[in-house]
Amino acid sequence: MSTLSKKRYTITSALPYANGPLHIGHLAGAYIPGDIFVRFLRLNHKDVVYVCGSDEHGAAITIKAKKEGVTPKEIINKYNKQIKDSFEDFGISFDIYHRTSEPIHHQLSQEFFLNLYEKGEFIEKFSEQYYDEEFNQFLADRYIVGTCPHCQNEGAYGDQCEKCGTSLSPTDLINPKSTLSGNTPILKETKHWYLPLDKYQPWLEEWLIEGKKGELKSNVFGQCQSWLKSGLQPRSMTRDLDWGVDVPLVEAEGKKLYVWLDAPIGYISATKQWAIDHGKNWEDYWKKTANPEDESTLIHFIGKDNIVFHCIIFPAILHAHGDYILPDNVPANEFLNLEGDKLSTSRNHAVWLHEYLEEFPGKQDELRYVLTSILPETSDSEFTWKDFQARVNNELVAILGNFINRVMVLSHKYFDGKLLRGSVYTDTDQNVFEELAKYPGLIEQSIGSYRFREALSYFINAARLGNKYLAEEEPWKIIKNDEERVKTVLFVASQIVANLAVLAQPFLPKTATKLFEMLNLPQKSWDSAGEVDLLKEGQQLGEVQLLFEKITDEQVEFQLNKLAQSKIDNAKSVSIAAPAKANVTFDDFMKLDIRVGTILEAEKVAKTKKLLKLKIDTGIDQRIVVSGIAEFFAPADIVGKQVSILVNLEPREIKGIMSQGMILMAEDADGRLDFVNPTDAVKSGSTVR
Ligand code: MF3
Ligand code: ZN
Repeated sequence: MSTLSKKRYTITSALPYANGPLHIGHLAGAYIPGDIFVRFLRLNHKDVVYVCGSDEHGAAITIKAKKEGVTPKEIINKYNKQIKDSFEDFGISFDIYHRTSEPIHHQLSQEFFLNLYEKGEFIEKFSEQYYDEEFNQFLADRYIVGTCPHCQNEGAYGDQCEKCGTSLSPTDLINPKSTLSGNTPILKETKHWYLPLDKYQPWLEEWLIEGKKGELKSNVFGQCQSWLKSGLQPRSMTRDLDWGVDVPLVEAEGKKLYVWLDAPIGYISATKQWAIDHGKNWEDYWKKTANPEDESTLIHFIGKDNIVFHCIIFPAILHAHGDYILPDNVPANEFLNLEGDKLSTSRNHAVWLHEYLEEFPGKQDELRYVLTSILPETSDSEFTWKDFQARVNNELVAILGNFINRVMVLSHKYFDGKLLRGSVYTDTDQNVFEELAKYPGLIEQSIGSYRFREALSYFINAARLGNKYLAEEEPWKIIKNDEERVKTVLFVASQIVANLAVLAQPFLPKTATKLFEMLNLPQKSWDSAGEVDLLKEGQQLGEVQLLFEKITDEQVEFQLNKLAQSKIDNAKSVSIAAPAKANVTFDDFMKLDIRVGTILEAEKVAKTKKLLKLKIDTGIDQRIVVSGIAEFFAPADIVGKQVSILVNLEPREIKGIMSQGMILMAEDADGRLDFVNPTDAVKSGSTVR
């Protein structure tokens, strides 16, 4: 059965952390696709709830609070408001934008935990963890600093030394100190509750891999397959933290639920609140029913960094609970890059939504249009300001805006804005109508298979059809000797405009509203798409409104300068952060044999978070290297990539694997890694000096 043939839908977009403003990468990842999909469902009279909200727990929030020197509460209040406003501004049409700090959410998350607890689903495990006696709390890895056992850097963190890149655990540090009190922490035994993901592995393989093959997008399916292939491990669902949802057990005082347990439950609590506000029954949207036909269809829109949580961990939790429906699909997008670089909040390499709106007031649909046409649906894609300008000027202005404007202006000029039927339709007119009637079906098919770029291209092709029709009929020429024909041409062209108004609704909500106003037509649902008598003879058109304006070279320049400036600011702050090491001789340097290699195979090292086992073609040979990059790169994404590799490093055994050499990585101040590789492919074995 097609995705679009169900009665009821529960649609979610990832809950953004309330720790910073939104940028174009957010919109392109989870929100524009979700919004187009939902608008389409509503236009088709489906029973749909679209939920989202702020994710207000976890280290993402407390670390930001520490950085700004304020309380977590102040952080979430500030950014929840800013994020909510941005979504509204860009027409992301959630039925509710909720918050995980609300009591109703805390309560539901606790109920979930207790349900699994009482069924005996959790494994209880003790471990020793650092504890700050002055602050009376266990320390998250990032809250412990000490001396790195490998390079003697005194500022290494509990999870990693940023100087030599080694990934650490807190007990590896020499002379550990708490960043809260500055004191030496003590080791204290602590208990946590683990979800046995390994136990659900067979079920996940059946439900996800066998059950959803060919349904999931290939980028999503690939990631799931590789997670399952490397074997699932029990994962702790509790944390020793002072910010989050309390673990509802007496013996767990002071402990909180793991943020990735509570956050997805946020979708459900948001639905609950919405149901209370609107007199609905939330269970209709989340619970299994006796007759599966009546169940809601659950779809999660997310970015690729959230795939494992939505395809594996949350479904495992829902499955363990037993009463809940499971996601029908998780159409995750890949990442959007900006001007040749990854989007980065910390480096301020971004287009912030609130700044965009100040600089391009009223131009929400322009950004929606451009982002939709470059959505990273199957692989990473790129936003550039030149391309933004080109798409706005050559498509929105020159095709869509131009066509509609000509129809409106000519109708007002020749017939005072009155639509007149004129003479009978010619073959050309009939053909145009036939062509036009194909678009709704094409768009529906594309949206139903989560191909929003393709759907948008059909929409703009429908506008092209109108443009071509006018250019061929040339009403401005024939008005001199055949007024009757001009009436018909403008009548036909106006029907095309009316269709564009209907078809624009999922993609360009503001523009669609303007078009209905200009046509003096009440808003129409998708049933009307393709109809060629949406406007009746004698209909009086409204006033001509400006739809789109050209983006100027100056505007592009301004944006590029702004990005260049943050690069300069950023480079400055990095050079302050990392002082140079002591000099080495040229001969010392020449001892290093660094080559360009190509990654042939990549897989996760079992039972580790950070390690990938790579097979690399060094030009000299093919060899195995173990590298601590698993948190930043999925195996499937890096096969084929070129890397710089130190080939004459003494081989060493890591987790039972002989690692022959070391991959060179660039690391920014936040510990994010990126490859050091040639911009254009070179031969494997090329030397790096
Ligand atoms: N806050 C998380 C992020 O931004 C996403 C949470 S999605 C949810 O990556 F399912 F957990 F809500
Ligand atoms: Zn180190």
